Amino acid sequence: MPVKCSNETTQCTDISSASTIETCDGAVLPPPPQSNAPSETLEIDRGTPDAHVSRDSRMIRLTGVHPFNAEAPLTELFREGFLTTPELFFVRNHGVVPEVHDENVLDWEFTVDGMVETPLKITLQKLVAEYEQQTYPVTLVCAGNRRKEQNMVRKSKGFSWGPAGVSTALFTGVVMSDVVRRAKPRKGAKFVYMEGADKLPNGHYGTCVKLSWVLDPNRGIMLAYKMNGEMLRPDHGKPLRVVIPGQIGGRSVKWLKKLTITDQPSDNWYHIYDNRVLPTMISPEVAAEGSKWWTDERYAIHDLSPNSAIASPAHGERLRLLEGGDVYTARGYAYGGGGRRITRVEVSLDQGRTWRLARIQYVEDEYRKADRILYGGKLDFQWRDTSFCWCFWTLDIPVQEMSEAKDILVRCMDEGMCVQPRDVYWSVLGMMHNAWFRVAIMREA
Ligand code: MTE
Repeated sequence: MPVKCSNETTQCTDISSASTIETCDGAVLPPPPQSNAPSETLEIDRGTPDAHVSRDSRMIRLTGVHPFNAEAPLTELFREGFLTTPELFFVRNHGVVPEVHDENVLDWEFTVDGMVETPLKITLQKLVAEYEQQTYPVTLVCAGNRRKEQNMVRKSKGFSWGPAGVSTALFTGVVMSDVVRRAKPRKGAKFVYMEGADKLPNGHYGTCVKLSWVLDPNRGIMLAYKMNGEMLRPDHGKPLRVVIPGQIGGRSVKWLKKLTITDQPSDNWYHIYDNRVLPTMISPEVAAEGSKWWTDERYAIHDLSPNSAIASPAHGERLRLLEGGDVYTARGYAYGGGGRRITRVEVSLDQGRTWRLARIQYVEDEYRKADRILYGGKLDFQWRDTSFCWCFWTLDIPVQEMSEAKDILVRCMDEGMCVQPRDVYWSVLGMMHNAWFRVAIMREA
C-alpha cells in the first residue's frame, strides 16, 4: 500500500506495510529493502548458544564462529544503497543473543528507575500503545569501523573490522525523552544508564549517555522496536533497543531491560573498558585492568568522527580502463558525527598532493521531505536540520588519469570544518580510525 505524506497528515503513519512512501512534495521514496531472511540456522551456528538465530552466509565473521561479529563485503553493502537489509547490517555482539519468541515480544518489559519521582515498568505493548511512534533513518557505526588498517600499523586490543562496520535502517520506536520525562528526573540527575539483557563474563552490557542529550529532541535518541518496518532481528536487539544517531554504535544498547537515571557516569565494566580512545602512548601493558586511564570520562567516545571510504574501485579489483575520452566513476560513502553534516568529500590521485571535489548525494534529505509521516509527524521538530545518516559521493575521473595513478585516496570534512587526518591516531583499543582511505589501483593485465 503506498503511504502518502500530505499537508493534512499530522501524525506518524505505520510504514511497515508501505510499498512506497510519498514525500510532501510528491516525490516517491523507494520502499524499505526487501529482506530475504534465511528461515533456517546456518550450519556454522548449530551447536552454539546462538543456534536460534538465522543469519546470512555472506556476512564476514571477524571473531570466529561465536560471538557473532560480522560485516558484509563492502561492495555488497554498497549495492544495497541507502538502507541496509537487516541480514547485511553489521553485527557487534559481545556474547550470546537473548532468545525472545514472537509470542512474547509484546510482554518484553524494561524499567526506568534511579533519580526519578516516578519509577516506571513499561512493556513493549504499552510503549506502542501509549507513546507517540516515530520512524526515521539512522546510520549506526561501530567505533571499531576500519580498525583493520589501524591494526596493520600496530596491533591494538580489538579485532579487525574492514570498512563495512556501518549500516543504515529506518528505525521505528519512541523518542527516549518521552519515556524519561514521564518518570520525572530529579534535580541533580545527569546521566541515563542503559542496560541490555545479555549476560556477559563481566556482567550485563551497559553504558550511559548524558541526560541532557536524551532530553534534547535534536538528538533523536530513540527506543526502537522495528527496522525497515519489520520487527528487529535477534542480532539487532529483538525486541527493543536504543538507537543514538550520530554517536558510536556501542552506546545503542540492544535487548534493552533498564534505564537508570544517575548523577554519576556508569561503572558498568563495558562502559569503562570498551569504546574509549586512550592517549596514544598508553600501551596494552600500561592499560591493564584497574589502571586509572580507564575511568577518565574524557576518553569515552560519544560522537562519531568524520569518516569516508571508497567502494569503487574495490580493494584488489582489477580495472578495465579503456583508452579514450571515457571517465571512470569512483564512489563511496561518508559520515559525520553528532548530527553534523558532511560538507565536502575530496579525492586525490597523487598521494594527497592535490585534491578534487566529489559530488555528494544526501539521500537522507529525501526522507526529511516525508517528515509529516516519518519524523514525528511534526514540522516543528528542529532536528530535521541535523544529519543522522551516511551520504554517498561520486567523482568522474578521466580514464587516462585513472590509469596513470598509483592509488586513489578519499577524505571528508564536516560542517565544523573537521577533516579526516592523513595519519593514524593509534590507541590501545584501536577505535575511531578515520585516516584518509586508500585503494591501490590495479589494472587488468
Ligand atoms: N548492546 C548489548 N546489549 N550488547 C552488545 O554486545 N554491542 C554494542 C551495541 N549494543 C552491544 C549492544 C556495539 S559495540 C555496537 S557497535 C552496536 O550494538 C551494534 O549494533 P548492531 O549489532 O545492531 O549493528
